[in-house]
Amino acid sequence: MKALILSGGHGTRLRPITHSQQKQLIPIANKPVLFYAIEDVIEAGAREIGIIVGPNKDQIIDTVGSREWDAGIEFIFQGEPAGLAHTILIAEDFLGEEEFIMYLGDNVIKGGITRHSHSFRDLDPDSLVLLTQVDDPQRFGVADLDEKGRVKRLVEKPRVPPSNYALVGIYFFKPAIIEACKSINPSWRNELEITDAIQWLIDNGHRVEASVVDGWWKDTGKAEDILEANRLVLDEMRPKNDGALRGSRIFGRAVIGKGSSIENSEIKGPCILGEDCIIRDSYIGPYTSINDGCNIEGTEIEDSVIMEGCTISNAGRIVESLIGKNVVIGENGRRPAGHRFIAGDNSEILL
Ligand code: TTP
Repeated sequence: MKALILSGGHGTRLRPITHSQQKQLIPIANKPVLFYAIEDVIEAGAREIGIIVGPNKDQIIDTVGSREWDAGIEFIFQGEPAGLAHTILIAEDFLGEEEFIMYLGDNVIKGGITRHSHSFRDLDPDSLVLLTQVDDPQRFGVADLDEKGRVKRLVEKPRVPPSNYALVGIYFFKPAIIEACKSINPSWRNELEITDAIQWLIDNGHRVEASVVDGWWKDTGKAEDILEANRLVLDEMRPKNDGALRGSRIFGRAVIGKGSSIENSEIKGPCILGEDCIIRDSYIGPYTSINDGCNIEGTEIEDSVIMEGCTISNAGRIVESLIGKNVVIGENGRRPAGHRFIAGDNSEILL
């Protein structure tokens, strides 16, 4: 089986982070979101992976290439994010006549997708879609199921939902989906929608089955989703300390990377600190991920994601924050006194 992982798109809801960084590279527990997708499809048996890349394609290619994978990886360039079904069309040569998993590169799911891949093999439908039960189906693509649990209709953001089963961004397809994607028209937002292509399969006599996710699933489209995914992943991490502690205490489960030094500080898990960090006179609280090469001094941080190379000193207490690479947050020791900002477009600063 092949896999198509979608790592294009503009990620407008994650600006300003996505002004400079492709959203699928944002780290959850210090690992790019995209890596969770790659690991899941490999675990489910994919040996050839096509990754759709868009605006910041070189970042994706470099980051994915920085690690060895147990599968061949090909990058497929999508000029404009013209819809999920459009990615299948531009990947037609890569996909050939094989079955494939389509996985949105900003999705994270507990426990991987192997169980669903077995359902696809056993039920042998033209498509199998993953569903999850939600409280607010009005915000999602929703599946209407028949008495056998097969999908009979998909509706986007319905005002009156036929069920509370929302579509997760993970799908299994036989090659019939290619004809479906060629047969549909762009939607009102001028995208080729995957829900329309799957509906085309149903309307043309193809069988679409569903598999319900039993653990958590998260689409990391917005900052609060990144923080929530970070909490969920950290909750399952095993502790490991490769750092050096001086006058410091660790409570709960913490992962501390090589070359990191914790001085006169308190660490309360679940949390992760990357490699070569210096934490001094600080408190790092639950659900915090601090990436490699950060320097934190005289500050309390809780429930936050701090990316590589940040310097944070005497910054008081930081909570529920998403901080990009190489950010400096510190005291203004100069005159005139006051907060000084160099904040990029769409930054959000709450004091
Ligand atoms: P979305 O989250 O729907 O779109 P987006 O990433 O552009 O974000 P925003 O709405 O904030 O602007 O996309 C879901 C996933 O699919 C995401 O990983 C990006 C990817 N994608 C593509 O690769 N190509 C596309 O044409 C589209 C629409 C999405």
